[in-house]
Amino acid sequence: MAMAASPLLHPIPKLEFRKCPFLPLNSQFPPRLHFLPRHFPSSSTIRASSTVLMEPDVSTQQDQAKEVEIVACPVCYEPLIRKGPSGLNLSAIYRSGFKCTRCNKSYSSKDMFLDLTVTAGLKDYTEVQPARTELFRSPLVSFLYERGWRQSFNRSGFPGRDEEFKMAQEYFKPVEGGILVDVSCGSGLFSRKFAKSGIYSGVIALDFSENMLRQCYNFIKQDETLLTNSNLALVRADVSRLPFSSGSVDAVHAGAALHCWPSPTNAIAEITRILKSGGVFVGSTFLRYTSSTPLIIRLLRERTSQGYGYLTEEEIEDLCTSCGLTNYSRKIQQSFIMFSAQKP
Ligand SMILES: C[S@@+](CC[C@H](N)C(=O)[O-])C[C@H]1O[C@@H](n2cnc3c(N)ncnc32)[C@H](O)[C@@H]1O
Repeated sequence: MAMAASPLLHPIPKLEFRKCPFLPLNSQFPPRLHFLPRHFPSSSTIRASSTVLMEPDVSTQQDQAKEVEIVACPVCYEPLIRKGPSGLNLSAIYRSGFKCTRCNKSYSSKDMFLDLTVTAGLKDYTEVQPARTELFRSPLVSFLYERGWRQSFNRSGFPGRDEEFKMAQEYFKPVEGGILVDVSCGSGLFSRKFAKSGIYSGVIALDFSENMLRQCYNFIKQDETLLTNSNLALVRADVSRLPFSSGSVDAVHAGAALHCWPSPTNAIAEITRILKSGGVFVGSTFLRYTSSTPLIIRLLRERTSQGYGYLTEEEIEDLCTSCGLTNYSRKIQQSFIMFSAQKP
């Protein structure tokens, strides 16, 4: 099926060269330059809103046949068609364009993440999310996140990155080898560990915050293995509108995130939708209070937690089961809860 190219592509005034952003500055491998030819071939291109333009490598044109993707349109959930190199890795995704043939909407990478929000490519309309989402879009908060902010969660009972990773890995044992989506990954502290473990066939680090995703990429850049060899992709999306087909994902991780979501019900319903049968969801968050919290503190928390969606242990279980998830289990330490549930 022929894809219509954006009129923006014609004519492109001059040949431009740009260095692949996935390489360390002094890297010789691969010494690739992307170029924008004067006449960009209209039938071989999908173009969305970003600065990425590329011409397919002749040597890999066979691989670049339009293929059905794990990622789907956030409007209609139809799998997107990719034009570009195959593979679930930063370089291949950066150099690809994606298109929903049903909605005739195109998506591509902005900076180094693939923007799969419904708002991707909009020119005039901007949408402001609730404060708990907007807070993490700030460059400062994103910068500070792994530089002290996240570590401060330990005071509330979070065991810390390494221990939390181990706990999640235990829950994910039944889905090893599958595709894992790290929803609300922040600066990617767990996505990077999941990708480095080599246990999953693909890891998608997904967040709504552009700046968190940029931070995530900055950390990835410091690790040659992650940069060149891992099946790790960065995607911008809203947890209430996950850009994956129903029943397409084996594992969903959402660390310290549920209390930041605009609608935990919509988010868990979406997570349930994208999980395959047998797929596992693991989340962690701060509890509003626990059974051992003194009444006076509970009352105080009821008042102060209104801006955030801090839930009780019972509410979290209720949410998961009401979305049809089973095998609910949880571990609690002070206000920290890690829970897991499975799609039947
Ligand atoms: C406290 S951070 C958690 C980061 C990381 N997962 C961790 O374990 O530390 C919460 C994350 O939720 C993300 N978030 C907030 N609202 C979101 C939404 N509507 N869709 C996707 N992510 C969202 C924020 O951008 C932020 O990165």
